[in-house]
Amino acid sequence: EQQINWYGRPMCLFQGFWCPSFTLRSLLCFQKKFKPHDTDIVLASLPKAGTTWLKALLFSIVNRHRFPIDQSPLLTTNPHRLVFSFECVHFRHEDNPNLENMNHPRLFSTHLAHQVLPNSLTNSKSKIVYVHRNLLDRFISDRKFFLKTNQETDFEPLPVEEAFDMFCKGIHSFGPFWEHILGYWKASLENPDRVLFLKYEDVKRDPISSAVKIAEFVGMPFSEEEEKRGLIGEISELCSFEKMKNLEVNKSGIHRGSIENSSFFRKGEIGDWKNHLSPEMAERLQQIMDEKMSECGLML
Ligand code: A3P
Repeated sequence: EQQINWYGRPMCLFQGFWCPSFTLRSLLCFQKKFKPHDTDIVLASLPKAGTTWLKALLFSIVNRHRFPIDQSPLLTTNPHRLVFSFECVHFRHEDNPNLENMNHPRLFSTHLAHQVLPNSLTNSKSKIVYVHRNLLDRFISDRKFFLKTNQETDFEPLPVEEAFDMFCKGIHSFGPFWEHILGYWKASLENPDRVLFLKYEDVKRDPISSAVKIAEFVGMPFSEEEEKRGLIGEISELCSFEKMKNLEVNKSGIHRGSIENSSFFRKGEIGDWKNHLSPEMAERLQQIMDEKMSECGLML
């Protein structure tokens, strides 16, 4: 399908959504070969919406009976190694033997839009947690990530105005954003037992209530005893930005190729866009949101 050069990185239009070309092979195989289990849990998001954080939270909630907090694999392993992404797993084998050997419930993540998830997954009983983030903060986070992880390459990054213009036209990784957000939003209304729509900002403001909500949604509610001994607070503390950013594995480890784990932990703030983008840009984006996705009622 159509290919473009986005910030010097090739992207192709995959079933109506812009995907980095390097993910294409995995995505095609995923669509054909992935065999969902009814107990699977999939974290879905646009890049830079808080995927790493939600991976850590989901992993901790789902595996809390396997590992005490002070022995959590998160202390020594980056969340992306604990929760595979459909974009990065290569579905080479007919029956995905590695995936079949995983502990249940299996946790996965994806940046794919709901509209292009395979029917086998959307028709299964597996659960999807979607995390949405203020689009301006997400845009800046994505840009900073890209600049940081491409310091060694020799191409000129697009000026911020041009990159923003492309973003507003829906040309960005896994965009257009309005289709992406609407797809999961509608699915969460139609099937609230199967799709949970979260906002980064809500999780940031109240991580404890968010952990409770996630645990209930995935069918593993916290018991009174767990609540009394402060387990929910311990989990949100372990997954907090400050804790995760300062773990040795996340300070020094390598994610993939030349991308360092530390690239996934920048500021973790709400409203950083105000340091980089103008009020006029925000107004333009809000207008697009009002035109294309007014039914969600999301504001910047
Ligand atoms: P910033 O660049 O604004 O700091 P993703 O995981 O989807 O790639 O998103 C990365 C963004 O989430 C980055 O945003 C990163 O700092 C932030 N982030 C990572 N871990 C976090 C955490 N535990 N709590 C809050 N934000 C976190």
